[in-house]
Amino acid sequence: MNTPPLIAVIGTGYVGLAAGAGLAEFGNTVVCVDIDSKKIESLQNGIMPIFEPGLKELVERNVEQERLLFTTDIVDTLQDADAIFIAVGTPMNDDGSADLSALYDVIHSIGKVINKYTVIVTKSTVPVGTGACIRHILEDIYAIDSCMFDIVSNPEFLREGSAIKDFLKPDRLVIGTESVDACTTLCRIYDSLLKEGTPCVFTDVATAEIIKYASNAFLATKVSFINEIANLCDATGGNAQTVAYAMGLDHRISPYFLKPGPGYGGYCFPKDTQALIHIATTYNVPMNTVQGAIAANVYQQQVSLKKLLHLTNNLLQGKTVAILGLAFKANTDDVRQSPSITLIQELKKYDVTINAYDPEAMRSMAQMFPDVHYCQSAYEALTGADAALIMTNWDEFKHLNTKRVASLMAEKIIVDMHNILDLTQLRALGFLCDGIGQGSLLHSTR
Ligand code: UDX
Repeated sequence: MNTPPLIAVIGTGYVGLAAGAGLAEFGNTVVCVDIDSKKIESLQNGIMPIFEPGLKELVERNVEQERLLFTTDIVDTLQDADAIFIAVGTPMNDDGSADLSALYDVIHSIGKVINKYTVIVTKSTVPVGTGACIRHILEDIYAIDSCMFDIVSNPEFLREGSAIKDFLKPDRLVIGTESVDACTTLCRIYDSLLKEGTPCVFTDVATAEIIKYASNAFLATKVSFINEIANLCDATGGNAQTVAYAMGLDHRISPYFLKPGPGYGGYCFPKDTQALIHIATTYNVPMNTVQGAIAANVYQQQVSLKKLLHLTNNLLQGKTVAILGLAFKANTDDVRQSPSITLIQELKKYDVTINAYDPEAMRSMAQMFPDVHYCQSAYEALTGADAALIMTNWDEFKHLNTKRVASLMAEKIIVDMHNILDLTQLRALGFLCDGIGQGSLLHSTR
């Protein structure tokens, strides 16, 4: 009874891989399954398919201690597991809804092989009602007795770029299930976190499913809100960072997630906000705040170009523009829905030469935009450039030698969409520059 449950994690993307390695680190035995045999082969050879700080070390340690395995053999893995964590992607359909086909493929596989009591855990972000659908498929299509399985919604809140840290030290756990047995299994799996005092919300499946969408939509709304305030500061004077700091001192608001920038991107916020609206529409429930957050973000992803046009007097034709940062945020190689994509698409309309540099994300961006000139360093990208934009808040951009930058650029124009650089210092070096929400449009006219 004291042996830890055997866990199968289905899907080895950001969530599955971090969860698999993290659950093993908690002392569980974990088998990670993916249908992508190349990915599994790489993982078996210690090669990580994604860049994520601390992931490789965590995987290596747990593989070495024989708590973590990778396989493509879904049938055996599903049959042996006491708990199956489903961590496959739930990407966005054209209508904004979540595409659950990968998740249901897994459920059908489970339906075909399950032969002992198993706890089925959804880690993937799924619309409310999915747990109930899973139950329906297993009971009604596969005629599996309800005492043979339980459903748990255990949403994952890890962020890309800090996935391992977030998984090993989460702000909270959410365990949604109607079953006492399943709850006990999950408590055993997360025993080390619960012993450390990690807050845990025990609730029903539907509530847990909603918690995930509500959290992401609220965070996206927070970012869109401060971005709109930043745009107002740019137009009127005032400093959005100070506004955010002062707002954040109010405990009801908190200082986190109030940094203005080029607009949010990534895999989760764009798809989860849309999915929440889609779910609400299905039930005829207005979701105006989230609609507003999305609309604000569509606008925000254009702000960097507007600033560039302003500083260059609308004379972009034939110029060379350096883009520093392609990933949707620092510490990841993920470019999905990155504000840099919108920027590159817009810049292409002006017939500019684009020099781009990102410490990790150039390979993924090159697949989308092969004709961009990818550089080996920020300084190489800036060499001969008529203007530059900082689009991702990578640490290395904070340490740019601005004197060297001034000497390399053909024209000294910088748009810093993350307020990384000191605009006063740049201006002293002769730069025409702008940040975000620094009231700087007032100072930056030619
Ligand atoms: C998000 C959620 O935070 C996480 O809980 C969930 O599991 C998945 O979605 P992630 O997409 O990895 O995680 O990134 P996050 O750090 O939340 O940033 C999302 C976007 O908001 C990024 O584009 C980021 O640059 C932007 N952001 C974040 C801001 O513009 N300002 C901020 O203050 C914070």
